[in-house]
Amino acid sequence: MTTTEIQRGLEGVNVAATKLCTIDGQKGQLIYAGYDIYDLAEHASFEETAYLLWNLDLPTSKQLSDLNALLIEERPLSDLNRTLIHELAGKCLPMRGLEICVTALGALDPRASDFSQEQLKWTAARLTARMPSVVAAFHRQRQGLDILAPRDDLGHAANFLYTLTGEEPSELQAKVFDVAMTLHAEHEMNASTFSAIVTASTMSDMYSAIASAIGTLKGPLHGGANSAVFEMLEEIGDESNIESHIEAMLSRGERVMGIGHRVYKTTDPRAIILEELGEQLAETSPDRKYFDLSRKVRDYLAERLSGRPLYPNVDFFSASVYRMLGIPHDLYTPIFAVARIAGWSAHLLEQYADNRLVRPNAVYAGEKFRAYEPIEARGQGESSTPR
Ligand code: COA
Repeated sequence: MTTTEIQRGLEGVNVAATKLCTIDGQKGQLIYAGYDIYDLAEHASFEETAYLLWNLDLPTSKQLSDLNALLIEERPLSDLNRTLIHELAGKCLPMRGLEICVTALGALDPRASDFSQEQLKWTAARLTARMPSVVAAFHRQRQGLDILAPRDDLGHAANFLYTLTGEEPSELQAKVFDVAMTLHAEHEMNASTFSAIVTASTMSDMYSAIASAIGTLKGPLHGGANSAVFEMLEEIGDESNIESHIEAMLSRGERVMGIGHRVYKTTDPRAIILEELGEQLAETSPDRKYFDLSRKVRDYLAERLSGRPLYPNVDFFSASVYRMLGIPHDLYTPIFAVARIAGWSAHLLEQYADNRLVRPNAVYAGEKFRAYEPIEARGQGESSTPR
């Protein structure tokens, strides 16, 4: 097919068939492998959800306990990851540290290029187990705190909160974080998933594909929006400043973070679930200020932007919910990755099982047929090499 039409941002272009996830952006519906996100959020753990994404069926109790055992076994950091964390923590953003540590994990895995589905599922579980350990260790190292050993008696979400904060979370805190991870686990063909697929389509390994996805998620228009939401809430500071702050942002042509979505043209169902969980946390949290402020900002925008398809997305309430869980805001995006690894790796299982190299076209818009000029004939000109 040769055409000069360009689909900027690949909007409306189907790039793959998937059994993992479907979204109805008009109705605000999100489905993982046939299960509604509201059902999964209420009943399934993150581990069950990850199993569902990798196998397209919910696990039996034996299948779930086997997966839990593998996740627990793979939680401890490798020596190389410890060294890298020691060198990098405090010197670069945690998201960059995570990307490097994932690449390093692949560097020492002799089976990284084994593309059997069995091996790929093992790698998916290994990354799912290890990425939270990297993020928690990175944070503790930069604060000068001891890196904590994982606790085998805690589930995936509770263990992460424990290794991050040093305190065993309450049942409610663990539940809220577990649901937040389930909500972030998968989201069809977003930018980071696509970049993982592009990397995998060259038959590069899962570690490199996931590192590509982490690099893509880092940007403020994708995963970086959740920490940008928190920064915005901090700048607003108080309900009385909402109008002036938002109006100043809009008049500068800036986007309000956590608002709008390429697919959802109504409220993102994940934002609805996170708001409900936030309310439960807020009842006992000493730190509910930003959650309350989020709601007021949401209400202001609902009126200000009424008639336009701009509603809260998943990042909008995750910022204040994570704050109430005691998570620092520059970890919000790494935490997104820690959850999304389940969906990224599930898409990679599909891609490797039916691979085709991703190689689109570009429409040439440059000059044509120029005659080569010898360097002496080109004059002086301004230097365009940055110094
Ligand atoms: N705040 C204010 N205006 C916004 C907006 C926002 N967050 N998001 C979109 N708009 C406006 C655009 O300025 C544009 O207005 P115009 O038609 O007058 O030019 C219109 O809505 C459509 O924007 P467009 O860029 O075409 O939408 P998109 O589908 O490409 O954008 C996002 C999707 C997510 C990139 C965009 O909504 C955004 O930047 N949101 C903030 C970042 C964010 O929360 N990202 C997380 C996504 S999960």
